[in-house]
Amino acid sequence: MTTNRLLVIGNWKMNLDFVEAVHLGQQIGVILKNRPAEHTDIVVVPPFVDLRSVTSIVDSERIAVDIGAQHVSANDNGAFTGEISTSMLKRLGVTWVLVGHSERRTMYHMDDEVVARTLRAVVASGLNVVLCVGEGGDVRDNDEQNDFVSAQLHSALGGLDEKYIEQVTVAYEPIWAIGTGRTAEGEQIRAMTRHIRSVLSAMGMAGRRVLYGGSVSPENAASIITEGGVDGFLVGGASLVAEKFLAIIQACDGCYAGKR
Ligand code: PGA
Repeated sequence: MTTNRLLVIGNWKMNLDFVEAVHLGQQIGVILKNRPAEHTDIVVVPPFVDLRSVTSIVDSERIAVDIGAQHVSANDNGAFTGEISTSMLKRLGVTWVLVGHSERRTMYHMDDEVVARTLRAVVASGLNVVLCVGEGGDVRDNDEQNDFVSAQLHSALGGLDEKYIEQVTVAYEPIWAIGTGRTAEGEQIRAMTRHIRSVLSAMGMAGRRVLYGGSVSPENAASIITEGGVDGFLVGGASLVAEKFLAIIQACDGCYAGKR
């Protein structure tokens, strides 16, 4: 089943201790009660140590968000110091996992092979995966972004069992736009979204949601949805401020009718 609903994911990265995370969760809950999102699914992605507190508050206050994790091990259990498994996440009520975020690829040596193995572990456990792809500034300068992103998609998703396809979402995040305040142009996003959709479709994954990430803000969200043709956002910095995060969600909701 494919969905027309938009999706906004807030990646809190390595910010907020559990007390601060609960506070932000509560603020999101209050705003959502006053202004519920009609057409937009929402996921928040706190640091591991905040997951228990955030899932508790979301359950007890019935906040309409799902919870994601920023990373997970490709292994089930055992001697992997510092790692977290999919079953541990599931037990906490987590339903989404980011895989292959550029910060993990560049800072923690997460190569294509590890991305592919991790993605398989995530979907096999029943969790939804957000596969992050995107080129660096040098690749874009050489106009090689389409080949680069195709290679990332093929390596991560090639040969994936058909039964897991519905658990897959792709986020296009050009590295040069992450945390820089420099958003990709609507036309660049549209071209890449189209490219990703055609690669996915050739792999039997037509209709999967394609998100954009990289300096998304309340000011640029609506124009990226309409000009970029995306199905939502992976938001970093702006997701740490409840009002900004909700303004991005409202912008998506407002664009829904005109989107398809
Ligand atoms: P940003 O981060 O919104 O702060 O640019 C996006 C991301 O890394 O997912």
